Amino acid sequence: MRPSQDLVPPPSKQPSNGLMDRLRSLGLKRGAAALLFTRLFKKKSTRKLMKMGRSGFQKGRSGLSKATEITGQELSSRAKQTARSIKHHSKPKNLNKDYRKLLHLTQEIGYDRGIEKLFFIPAKGFISLDELTIDSPNRQFGHNYHPIHRLSFNWAMAQIPDQLDKFTFVDYGAGRGRALLLASLLPFRKIIGVEFANELHDDANMNIAQFPRSLMKCRDVDCLLMDAVDFPIPETRGVFLFNDSFDREVLETVLARIGSSYRANPRRIYLVFVRPLHAKVLDSLIERTVIFEPIYHSKSEKMRMQILSPDQVQIFRTLI
Ligand SMILES: C[S@@+](CC[C@H](N)C(=O)[O-])C[C@H]1O[C@@H](n2cnc3c(N)ncnc32)[C@H](O)[C@@H]1O
Repeated sequence: MRPSQDLVPPPSKQPSNGLMDRLRSLGLKRGAAALLFTRLFKKKSTRKLMKMGRSGFQKGRSGLSKATEITGQELSSRAKQTARSIKHHSKPKNLNKDYRKLLHLTQEIGYDRGIEKLFFIPAKGFISLDELTIDSPNRQFGHNYHPIHRLSFNWAMAQIPDQLDKFTFVDYGAGRGRALLLASLLPFRKIIGVEFANELHDDANMNIAQFPRSLMKCRDVDCLLMDAVDFPIPETRGVFLFNDSFDREVLETVLARIGSSYRANPRRIYLVFVRPLHAKVLDSLIERTVIFEPIYHSKSEKMRMQILSPDQVQIFRTLI
């Protein structure tokens, strides 16, 4: 049956060739396909459905293009951020910083673990002086607590050629006592810590009391609660440790006290600086004492420490 003229949809509503082709591909003749389309099209529900479909499609398309735009922006800003970060981290100064950070971490979770197991109160970690009870005007010049790495300590001690049993070991700013107890594994004559933060001093004494005596080559270990500037310098030979303890204002006074003690009783004294103050500052302070000279390490030792140690170590000794 041929479809009557009035059933054929007006030109604007003619089914697209694509749709007609599809209807025809279903086996319908052209006329029948047109009739079917017109009937379907005339139905309100069909038109509504088609409208919804069209608007859904348009919304989807605009959503997609918006998403692409946003993702593109995000990706490009992320790419820029990453590029900035790569540029920042690849500067030699920052590469070195990152490498030292990594060494700190590997020391802490590797080499320091053995000694940490022996502590009653863990010495590892960082404590800000703001959280501690300190009765001293030098609080403002004090550096926050973090313990020495075992590698840095052992390496520094290995640079001292003398028999240690004649020496008193002093840790200026003893914290929780890690350096004191590492020193107790060596045959020092006496070991003294000086700490001005109440809580750290208590922890250090607790650690000293609980440390396995069988491992200690020196059992005369004590930690005093006082400011470093008030500590009376021992009359014996000495190895004095300064592990990132305080600013130049305090160090100046401490060095002056060590200087006058030495002049009254000349003897061998080693100053061991771990993470020292800026080289220029430290050198000028040491030069002013006129009694110390630096110990220079062999090139291979220096290289080994530069590669392995997270900390810089500088050692000076009295001229005698
Ligand atoms: C980086 S920590 C070193 C801890 C310990 N020497 C070690 O190596 O494990 C520095 C310590 O110095 C102490 N300190 C800072 N200024 C001080 C001062 N004027 N007198 C005594 N202790 C001080 C801080 O409380 C802190 O515990």
